[in-house]
Amino acid sequence: MSTAGAAVGLGNIWRFPYICGENGGGAFIVVYMILIFAIGMPIMISELTIGRASKKGSGGAFTKLIGNKKSKVWRTVGLLGVIIAFIVSSYYSIIAGWTLDYLYESFSGKLVHLSNSELQGYFDHFMGSDNAQIFWHVIFTLLTTLILSGGISSSVEWFNKITMPFLFLILIGLMVFSLNIELEGNWSNFFQSETIDFLFKPKWENFTRESFFRALGQAAFTLSIASGTMISYGSYLNKKEDVVNLSAIVVVMDTFVAILAGLMIFPIIFHYGLEPGSGTGLVFISLPSLFSQIPGGAIFSLVFYFLLCFAALSSSIAILEPVVTHLIDEVKYPRRIAAGLSGFLSLILGITWIKVSTLEHSGTFTNVDKLVSDLLIPIESVAICVFVGWALRKKLFLKTLNSHSPLFNEVLYFVVKWICPIGIFLILLNTF
Ligand code: PHE
Repeated sequence: MSTAGAAVGLGNIWRFPYICGENGGGAFIVVYMILIFAIGMPIMISELTIGRASKKGSGGAFTKLIGNKKSKVWRTVGLLGVIIAFIVSSYYSIIAGWTLDYLYESFSGKLVHLSNSELQGYFDHFMGSDNAQIFWHVIFTLLTTLILSGGISSSVEWFNKITMPFLFLILIGLMVFSLNIELEGNWSNFFQSETIDFLFKPKWENFTRESFFRALGQAAFTLSIASGTMISYGSYLNKKEDVVNLSAIVVVMDTFVAILAGLMIFPIIFHYGLEPGSGTGLVFISLPSLFSQIPGGAIFSLVFYFLLCFAALSSSIAILEPVVTHLIDEVKYPRRIAAGLSGFLSLILGITWIKVSTLEHSGTFTNVDKLVSDLLIPIESVAICVFVGWALRKKLFLKTLNSHSPLFNEVLYFVVKWICPIGIFLILLNTF
């Protein structure tokens, strides 16, 4: 459940719908699904296995497993995971901060009374105010750091077990309301609706070379792979757990939430003639207008943003944890200091991102979110596959999996050794 909590977050509800909207809908989903199962899941399994076998965080796991603590290459690969985690945490809490603001505004009841154009105006105004963004970014980072330093993450996990099912339920409920608005109550037109057409009928003409790249980045980001997180979580897995089963459950849950989010957002977009490719604000503009349309919208809005903030919190804890673990393991800081320092540095870096408005840029090298998920994470993913396929002993890998299907294990090993690295490499090559 904690691994699922790490995976399900803003990546599913904020990032997936807007990237899907920008990259042609249905065709994007087809490629995304293939990448999730053919590349994302094998890498998740590999990382959990690396963590489980080494009982270490990303920084020390690789070198420990090959029994060569001095190997510069594998030490760098491990460190890159920690660096990715650090960068992601610095901007993840900015977006989580946006959701905190929307939660606050749901309390004040302001959002449900705004028209579409006013909602757009509200979002633009918020994005234009560095101080408001910094304020919420500070609050969110503080929350994450406090939880990490107090070691009360177990209670967050416990809370996660309760809030996750509620998140599912509310997403399903909102999806029904949203589709009902688009269909104007006439469900017999379901299969002809613009949403279903957009999301499930691939139109390849809208899928560009760059879309491949974005689908790969999204698949990796949403599963929390190649960022130290799954290695840390793998090191806590108990002996009985079957890594393959566990990953399958997490991947299916994560994908399910993303598709639900799409089915909740797009009917509103099409009903009001909004632009599906309108970028990072998609969810923040369309959802409040759904809340203003449905009975009990104010309550829905409150509960929804609360659950979303919680989903973001469980992910942000998971993102910063590899950095904290690294400082504890390798620099020997006590937990409190390690958490405080990681949180503080992440806060400062985040403020820099707000000042240069990086999240509003569209270029891979000017938008930090794109730089990390479309470039650094794929590079780290290739390195992980090469490690498992070529540096780690096959027997150790298969034994640590604790999976009971020998045939599946062989196929998986082949995929990790050959298909994943070559596939990712080709996608990168195709884009640059
Ligand atoms: N997967 C998380 C999400 O979808 C984000 C995340 C990335 C979490 C990397 C941990 C590590 O929101």
